[in-house]
Amino acid sequence: MRTDIVHIGAGELTYEIRNIVNVGEKLEKLGIKVHWENIGDPIYKGEVIPTWMKEIVADFAMQDSTYGYCPTRGVLSTRKFLAEQTNRRGGAQIDANDILFFNGLGDAISKVFGFLRRNARVVVPTPSYTTHSSAEAAHAGDRPVTYKLDPDNHWYPDLDDLEKRIKYNPAVAGILIINPDNPTGAVYPEAILRGMVDLARKYDLFVVCDEVYQHIIYNGQHSLPLSDIIGDVPGMAMRGISKEMPWPGSRCGWIEFYNAHRDPMFEKYMNSLVNAKMVEVCSTTLPQKVLPAIISHPEYWNYLQERIDRYEKYSNIAYDVFRKIDGLQVNRTNGAFYMSIAFREGRLTHRQTLSIASKEVREQVEALVSAPNVSLDKRFVYYLLGATGVCVVPLSSFATELQGFRMTLLERDEERFRGIVNTIAEAIGHYLAS
Ligand SMILES: Cc1ncc(COP(=O)(O)O)c(C=O)c1O
Repeated sequence: MRTDIVHIGAGELTYEIRNIVNVGEKLEKLGIKVHWENIGDPIYKGEVIPTWMKEIVADFAMQDSTYGYCPTRGVLSTRKFLAEQTNRRGGAQIDANDILFFNGLGDAISKVFGFLRRNARVVVPTPSYTTHSSAEAAHAGDRPVTYKLDPDNHWYPDLDDLEKRIKYNPAVAGILIINPDNPTGAVYPEAILRGMVDLARKYDLFVVCDEVYQHIIYNGQHSLPLSDIIGDVPGMAMRGISKEMPWPGSRCGWIEFYNAHRDPMFEKYMNSLVNAKMVEVCSTTLPQKVLPAIISHPEYWNYLQERIDRYEKYSNIAYDVFRKIDGLQVNRTNGAFYMSIAFREGRLTHRQTLSIASKEVREQVEALVSAPNVSLDKRFVYYLLGATGVCVVPLSSFATELQGFRMTLLERDEERFRGIVNTIAEAIGHYLAS
């Protein structure tokens, strides 16, 4: 090509959560029964949408107005409904114009980072949900700037590390918080959240808080939404219906902006996001229309609670099995529906294997792990997949040096879930001893 057409950040765009599927599908063709523990889609894992919810969607689908464009910011009545919900908590006060709808948070994330000035950085957690870390890194054309989530302290953010990243890097303009967190399943206590907001205030930064799992918290833990603690700091909360309703295929999420009018530069940035959406016209209308009716339905919270109770139970099943294994850093999941387990340093090598009965599968796995630069945890994940059919995601794919894996708690059948956990545990034992 006459001119280089590849974006400077193109190399930063990776999404191992889906990449691993290609490997799983190859092995499936060779006769392996794959248990997909890689992706956070409750529907894919058999979640049954209650009839009352489907009836609400069906009613709206019968109305012609559902088929039109909606205002750029989103359906006004829905934005008013959401603003009222936030205002009722007594923290940050917003109106409908402080809310902007997107085609899923994936869309919101790519715009939030894509429309940030190229040399302004947002410090993201490590490990980090890749959509955030990749989008942030791609916008800058550089590696992500990260702060540590500490596996020796419940995967909580290390505030000293965060302050260092901010203090010594004047390009940092914002802090990303994901609470509850993907991939770790951690739920941050109020003191830590306040500490992060205090750092934003001290260094004149904005805060982005991804709260897509905000209502999926268990094991007696509590946390606060950003609106409760943001005070006078400019910030934004990202929310959506993919995980909670759950309706990931609706592609519907929104941002609530806090204190947008207190800081002219932040306000200008917010308006640039509105304009970016305006160029696209608007986001999907149907899910926005049904949102208030579904969330206000008398069965909504009971339905969600039934799922939360299951995640709580499964988080404990998995924790009780993995914590007994020597060589792992294990934290109980308290929110969302993921568990991340790290191998202690030095426990993985490039020689470890698992025995794989099928010659063809073994050859596939051996070919995969002998490719250049295969990380130690990817090697483990490929062997696990070939030997047991369990498909998890290497932890190192989440913008971290830590070696481990992330699984989900989404399997609905308890016996099958116990089976998967025990299979992974047994495989770890054999792998580490090999
Ligand atoms: C922390 C987090 N934010 C955002 C998303 C994406 O949500 P959406 O389906 O709204 O794009 C996910 C999906 O897994 C997630 O885990």
